[in-house]
Amino acid sequence: MGYIIALAGKGGTGKTTVAALIVRIIKEKGLGSILAVDADPNSNLSEALGMESKETIGRILDDIATHPQKIPSGMTKDRFIEYQVQSAVAEADGFDVLTMGKPEGPGCYCYVNNVLRNIMAKLIKDYDYIVIDNEAGLEHLSRRTTRTADCLVIISDATVVGIKAAGRIKDLADELDVKIKKRALIINRWDKDIEKERIKNLKSDYAGSLPYDNEIERISLDGNSILDLKNDALSLTSLSKILEKIFQES
Ligand SMILES: Nc1ncnc2c1ncn2[C@@H]1O[C@H](COP(=O)(O)OP(=O)(O)OP(=O)(O)O)[C@@H](O)[C@H]1O
Ligand SMILES: [Mg+2]
Repeated sequence: MGYIIALAGKGGTGKTTVAALIVRIIKEKGLGSILAVDADPNSNLSEALGMESKETIGRILDDIATHPQKIPSGMTKDRFIEYQVQSAVAEADGFDVLTMGKPEGPGCYCYVNNVLRNIMAKLIKDYDYIVIDNEAGLEHLSRRTTRTADCLVIISDATVVGIKAAGRIKDLADELDVKIKKRALIINRWDKDIEKERIKNLKSDYAGSLPYDNEIERISLDGNSILDLKNDALSLTSLSKILEKIFQES
């Protein structure tokens, strides 16, 4: 069973960037096989990982809904979806990527969520690490698409408002029936440790700060990917240390 890392945080805090950095670090340390899951309907994790066109589960579900005749006779709809999803897993050098997207057509969203949960339950058996980039906010928790995680990485900026939002994510994860073994709070774009009294109910979750990295800004401006960062980029070395600590404590 793979080690699941799920990213959470309010909009624009750096979830996708950190997810891509984590994938790169696990790959370069040779820790095992990796599935990167882009679970944000406005997906951009695959771009951050340097992949171009992508099949999405949303499109697959739309296609099956509008062309049910494509389901081979003798195969159940669920089995057909499962089969199609396997083929939507994109293979890159050192990791695989699965993009959820979102179905455009009408239909019950809970059905889609069920499909996704079942697919994930199967896929996590095939990889050593699963890194899930989520949409901003609390939806993925309240809809329970984040149901289990070995580590819920909460990304925040250093502001009072940001830390409050991070605290709400923690509280909701506590309230709901989600199985999260460990939480790690990362303060992004902050070049020193944050004072413990500023992070309130998240004190024991604090894993470290990730400084602003001009190299990340550069690659974003140029439309390049996290894989184009130099090996000694500040963000990579800082996050590497934070991850080491997280894995040690797990
Ligand atoms: N440590 C950093 N240093 C410099 N730039 C950063 C850093 N972290 C993130 N960024 C930049 O900030 C912007 C937002 O980051 P990102 O897209 O990762 O956030 P997000 O939380 O995934 O956003 P959304 O909620 O829209 O999905 C991007 O342009 C990214 O390149
Ligand atoms: Mg994002």
